[in-house]
Amino acid sequence: MFDFKDHAVLVTGAGAGIGLGIAQAFHGAGARVALGDLREPGLARAAEKLGRSERVFTHSVDVRDGKSVDAFVQAAERAIGPLTVAVANAGVYPNSPVLDMTVDEWDRVMETNLRGVFLTCQAVGRRMVAQGTPGKLITISSGAYNSGRKGAAHYCASKAGVVMFTKVLAMELGQHRINVNCIAPGLVTVDRNLNEVSDEYVKTLVATIPWGRPGSPEDIARAALFLASPFAEFITGEVLSVDGGSGTGRTYLPYSGTTRR
Ligand SMILES: NC(=O)c1ccc[n+]([C@@H]2O[C@H](COP(=O)([O-])OP(=O)(O)OC[C@H]3O[C@@H](n4cnc5c(N)ncnc54)[C@H](O)[C@@H]3O)[C@@H](O)[C@H]2O)c1
Repeated sequence: MFDFKDHAVLVTGAGAGIGLGIAQAFHGAGARVALGDLREPGLARAAEKLGRSERVFTHSVDVRDGKSVDAFVQAAERAIGPLTVAVANAGVYPNSPVLDMTVDEWDRVMETNLRGVFLTCQAVGRRMVAQGTPGKLITISSGAYNSGRKGAAHYCASKAGVVMFTKVLAMELGQHRINVNCIAPGLVTVDRNLNEVSDEYVKTLVATIPWGRPGSPEDIARAALFLASPFAEFITGEVLSVDGGSGTGRTYLPYSGTTRR
């Protein structure tokens, strides 16, 4: 459906989960893809999954570190050409009530989820502007940007920050014909979920999804393809929720009328 044959796409956090799904989708649509991740084994597995094609480049990166991000972006351009799309996806989701939270944990979440998005978009945005080419920057937030959950104050704050960062960057880069948009996924089934989120949490959350199931990395990837496509040319600074309707409101409430339906 989408053709990205002439595109060079960079994805952070692409060694697993949603980032890998996004990289796979762009690769499947013909793009050259650069996958960056903190964990080398994840990158090796990802390259295997993409069939070790010559259109795939992998590089370790720590999105918290500007030098590391610059090195990844430069290496990616050498390998797959000037970037036309970047997806700032890398993120972490630890849990801790505020009163027990350490400063280190707060910093790790903000540095990965918010500073990482800033550094990735800044590095790629600078290249796009210098080359004078239009481009697409996509950030990954979460339904947590406007729906709080206990144990995730740092995560929710970081994801709300991603949304406002996206909007301001879109204002600044419109003149360069660079679209900047954000995807806010709802619950998405990835390997990590199985370890870090309790069964009770997942069961309760799934019960509030009108679509009746959690999302998959492919659901999020399809939204990324759309936002990076010419169909989204006049869309910028937007947040696209991809959540099966779970962000629509208080879905756990019963029908509000007096007559049973
Ligand atoms: N899975 C969900 O339910 C869900 C819901 C909403 C939003 N999100 C967001 O989607 C994004 C991807 O999440 P996921 O569920 O695929 O997680 P995941 O843990 O499966 O994958 C995240 C990847 O990011 C990498 N990473 C972590 N820190 C990094 C760093 N400093 N530098 C580079 N790479 C780093 C990890 O190694 C991992 O491969 C995150 O931003 C997350 O907050 C996920």
